[in-house]
Amino acid sequence: MPISSANIRPADDAGIAEAAACLAAGGLVAFPTETVYGLGADACSGDAVARIFDAKDRPQFNPLIVHLASTEASARQGALGEKAIALAAAFWPGPLTIVVAQRPDTTITPLVSAGGDTLALRVPGHPVAQALLQQAGCPVAAPSANRSGRISPTTAAHVAESLGDRVDIILDGGACPGGLESTIIDVSGDTPVLLRSGLIGREDLAAVVGDVGDPADPGEIQAPGMLPSHYAPNAAVRLNATEPHSGEALLGFGPGFSDDGAMMRNLSPKGDLREAAANLFSVLHDLDRLSVVGIAVAPIPETGLGVPINDRLRRAAAPRD
Ligand code: TXA
Ligand code: MG
Repeated sequence: MPISSANIRPADDAGIAEAAACLAAGGLVAFPTETVYGLGADACSGDAVARIFDAKDRPQFNPLIVHLASTEASARQGALGEKAIALAAAFWPGPLTIVVAQRPDTTITPLVSAGGDTLALRVPGHPVAQALLQQAGCPVAAPSANRSGRISPTTAAHVAESLGDRVDIILDGGACPGGLESTIIDVSGDTPVLLRSGLIGREDLAAVVGDVGDPADPGEIQAPGMLPSHYAPNAAVRLNATEPHSGEALLGFGPGFSDDGAMMRNLSPKGDLREAAANLFSVLHDLDRLSVVGIAVAPIPETGLGVPINDRLRRAAAPRD
């Protein structure tokens, strides 16, 4: 697929200023965060937010994360209770999304929460995202900047490939350092619930707010990013593989696997899970470009960052509609 690059701008002062003005005027801006690239629009404008759903071909029932420059700005939209404030103090700015009750006087358009009474709030730490949010002066609704159900983008080129000229501006701030979407914790009820695993682990959260539970009914759509078939590359994904079948690429992890830059790729030759997380979506994008029939994935340890990595891989491998 050709990469449309006419709308890519370097994330320098001029690019950020142009992007902030575009957001304030109701436009769509893709921007880097420490997790993945987001597809942003003014969260207070129904028209602007509707353009996000359009660009992504996203089902309307899927609510969006609201990005803000600070905890203070978040507290003007969401009812931050004791637990949310403690989490914000510990992890913001950073790769954590906190679901709280909406304030009755919130200025966020109801389209963002798909008509629900909660808001998912995040203060990102990436310097480009911070500068953009401060200059735009509005809360920014942003899902990951990919077509619905596809792999999240970790570079400006991934965004251009997936969304092309459906975005007004793609701010190029290089590769996202984290590479996995934010951890999502819901503190709108009595017990905190982990809706999506990510760079911040369950134990890190529990150290701040005590017990962190799982969604009561896994069948219920609480965070549609949690749908079984999500993060899907074009190729079929086969997990816990030791060697590739004919025509398959092999995605390895650790010193026992090679990396030829083509059919044999290694998420981290030295077996470092942080490096593997940062590389995951990028390598899946690369393999998709090669049009391989399948991707055989070596076992990844189910510890630390292996938990969110395996979560994304299981969804990539789930049966498709
Ligand atoms: O790292 C990230 O979180 C990236 C960057 C751009 O911030 N964003 C991202 O957004 O991954 P998205 O839309 O791809 O995934 C957001 C998830 C979805 O599964 C959505 O259902 C859930 O957050 N979500 C949004 N608002 C929610 C709410 N009020 N309650 C529960 N889940 C919510
Ligand atoms: Mg997404």
